[in-house]
Amino acid sequence: MRKNNMSLAVLDQSEKMDALETKSDVSIIGLGFVGLTTAAAFAKLGMKVIGLDVDSDKVSKISKRVAPFHEPQLEELLLDSEKNFSVSSKIELAGRSRIIFLTVGTPSRSDGSMETRFLIDAARNVGSAIKSSTDYPLVVVKSTVVPGTLLKVVIPEIEDASGMTYGTDFGACSNPEFLREGSAVYDTLNPDRLIIGGTKKDSAILLSFYKRLFGKKMPKTILTSPSNAELVKYSNNAFLAMKISFINQIARICESLPNADVQIVAEGIGLDKRIGRSFLSAGLGFGGSCFPKDVKALQHFSKSLGYDAPIVEATMKVNHDQPLRAVQIAEEKLNGLEGKKVAILGLAFKPDTDDMREAVSVKIIEELLQKGAIVSAHDPKALKTASLVLDDKVQLVSDKKDCLRGSDCALLVTEWDEYKTMKPEFFRDLMRSPVLIDGRRLYDPTQFAKVLDYSAIGLDRGASKTTC
Ligand code: UDX
Repeated sequence: MRKNNMSLAVLDQSEKMDALETKSDVSIIGLGFVGLTTAAAFAKLGMKVIGLDVDSDKVSKISKRVAPFHEPQLEELLLDSEKNFSVSSKIELAGRSRIIFLTVGTPSRSDGSMETRFLIDAARNVGSAIKSSTDYPLVVVKSTVVPGTLLKVVIPEIEDASGMTYGTDFGACSNPEFLREGSAVYDTLNPDRLIIGGTKKDSAILLSFYKRLFGKKMPKTILTSPSNAELVKYSNNAFLAMKISFINQIARICESLPNADVQIVAEGIGLDKRIGRSFLSAGLGFGGSCFPKDVKALQHFSKSLGYDAPIVEATMKVNHDQPLRAVQIAEEKLNGLEGKKVAILGLAFKPDTDDMREAVSVKIIEELLQKGAIVSAHDPKALKTASLVLDDKVQLVSDKKDCLRGSDCALLVTEWDEYKTMKPEFFRDLMRSPVLIDGRRLYDPTQFAKVLDYSAIGLDRGASKTTC
């Protein structure tokens, strides 16, 4: 880690206002995972970027090049991009850029539909910011939005707030982002495709921006309508989520089938080039800020068109039940959970992040507590974020040993690297009864079953003890 002894320009400070005389190539509104990573990556690749967010605490942190969340390599990227990247909470500064990216959140409403509030606020702010611009500014929506949002929500709001006309005074494109948390920096610097939805004129402006940005490393690009671009993103996430639910369903079949192991089945089908091995890791289900929200939004959107989209619905149903499978196995193994001490390894929704949004650990812990278990939990990075969402009955510990010591059952929920090297004897020596449920297929069943009472998602109970 490099030393963090400089700071980004915070353009709110009057002494830095001179910097505004220089126009930015791009403004990025909304400095969450997508916005901040995109802003820093564009700046590293040579663009003058201003990152804008209404949250002044977040802006202040970023100005000191401290990432407001845990993401590998992000702080290094903030250091690397320092000379091209400034931040502010004054959204009106967007008016000084030719291209303005919107990367604000589109969370779920309680009925599963997409919340447009933040997007509308951002669009209106942009409208006010570009009011006096004669440069034909281009507004680019990177947020994940249901088809029709650019044309029916964003553009009308900008027109209303600016008094300008779309297509004549300003342009607009849909350009979804596909980065994954945990590898956001790599994904942003090395995208496998660009999807651009807009008119020929607007798409050409954005295309030329990306050609400048990526040069010879320009990824494959599809130029299409805004609705297609918007639907690509939802279909992409729903398809990957479907692959996970599919393999989790096969896992359930394997658990009742002599000598079956879902990992071998996944290897087998993954070798078919038409299917591929990725996103076929059976486990406790998908979580995070994207898949659950986007699959629900697609389901809701499809219903609004009069079609129920049964595969999308089934994807969510399987995912709803999957985390509880771990609790069922624990209950069977321990003959009930009342008063039993259960150790949870891993809380974040996936490794290399401290993000607890829709983390399956929360659902599992709630169920365990409801059944009377005493729960202790460990995570290498997410203890702080977890403390904000978990019942205070859960004992959160920073040492794995303290988590496992005296427990009746351990449940591996998130496959952090540091758990991979744990030997079965480590569990056995600390636990009261050495029952391990491997929710992410991290361990070798043959080795672990010799020492522990080992069960795993997608593994026949007898399989670890039998040679085929
Ligand atoms: C996802 C998409 O991958 C990304 O393209 C999009 O832009 C945002 O949503 P992310 O949520 O960061 O990214 O994580 P991802 O790696 O896709 O994992 C999502 C969830 O699926 C995690 O809970 C993970 O544990 C789970 N998962 C993933 C599985 O259970 N099995 C798998 O084989 C893969």
